[in-house]
Amino acid sequence: MGKKVLAVFYTQSGQLSDIIDHFTQPLVDSGATVEKLRLYPAAPYPFPWTGKAFFAVMPDCVNQIPGPLETFSIKEESYDLIILGYQAWFLSPSIPANSLMNHPQFKAVARNTPMITITGARNMWISAMEKIKPTLRGLGAKLVGNIALVDRHHNLISFVTIFHWMFNGKKDRYLNIFPIPGVSAEDISNTNVFGEAVVPHLQSGNWQGLQEELVDLGAVVIKYPLMFIESKARKIFKVWAGIISKRKKRTGWLVAFKYYLLIALFIAAPIILTVDAIFFKPFLSGRIKRQKQYYSGVN
Ligand SMILES: Cc1cc2nc3c(=O)[nH]c(=O)nc-3n(C[C@H](O)[C@H](O)[C@H](O)COP(=O)(O)O)c2cc1C
Repeated sequence: MGKKVLAVFYTQSGQLSDIIDHFTQPLVDSGATVEKLRLYPAAPYPFPWTGKAFFAVMPDCVNQIPGPLETFSIKEESYDLIILGYQAWFLSPSIPANSLMNHPQFKAVARNTPMITITGARNMWISAMEKIKPTLRGLGAKLVGNIALVDRHHNLISFVTIFHWMFNGKKDRYLNIFPIPGVSAEDISNTNVFGEAVVPHLQSGNWQGLQEELVDLGAVVIKYPLMFIESKARKIFKVWAGIISKRKKRTGWLVAFKYYLLIALFIAAPIILTVDAIFFKPFLSGRIKRQKQYYSGVN
């Protein structure tokens, strides 16, 4: 009998739907029925964003406050595999992705179902995934694979170019000098390689070893400096989100957060990374290796 797969995702620019298309093509070729479901929030987020709207979503992202989604329908009562496409927003699952995980219709099909998560992020998705893992466990889903596509350019370059993309709505070169933002076209089309690795597992229903195969194929690459910055930033974002969400008048606080972010990334992070590289990192290689292994996995 043909296998049934649900691929559910939200995307603003269409990047994540391109990724899902390439990833699921080998499953379709193998004879599986792949139902693609694109989600829409009941009140759409702007794309391109305004600066104000962009930073205004930070507290609800970090505090994982779900919002209403447009009505959607899921055709089957159960699936052999669910592919959950998500994007990181402020080191957390995007509000639409989080809303999906809290939606009764999704909860009903997620129970006892193997699940593969896939993201198209700038480069910081670890914390978002660490929030998704327990949520999926709570739903009774079985996380069997995780794929993280990122912008491979330097952190400071991709920070500049993503804002160009988000605030103009065009995935093109800023000032004709900077590289194209987001996940590269090559990496997007290469996603079918990960889909091919999934096919035998889908057919046998045995998911053992899938994540290790995906990691060997380059589906998850953990870079120490990004992992390090993210581990610090997620704690600080939580504090900001806690303070801002209690305010009735948020505008001033959100502007302060914006400047904090710029200073943290362009000034503080390089200094902290240099200090860490000299005084701490050389003595922590065992711990760093274990952390990388853990974040590459699905447990
Ligand atoms: C409000 C907002 C916050 C974002 N925060 C992050 C982040 O913390 N880490 C990251 O890697 N990418 C971040 N991104 C980039 C997204 O993960 C994603 O790559 C981009 O929005 C394109 O996704 P799309 O398929 O929805 O168009 C953010 C994007 C938005 C709009």
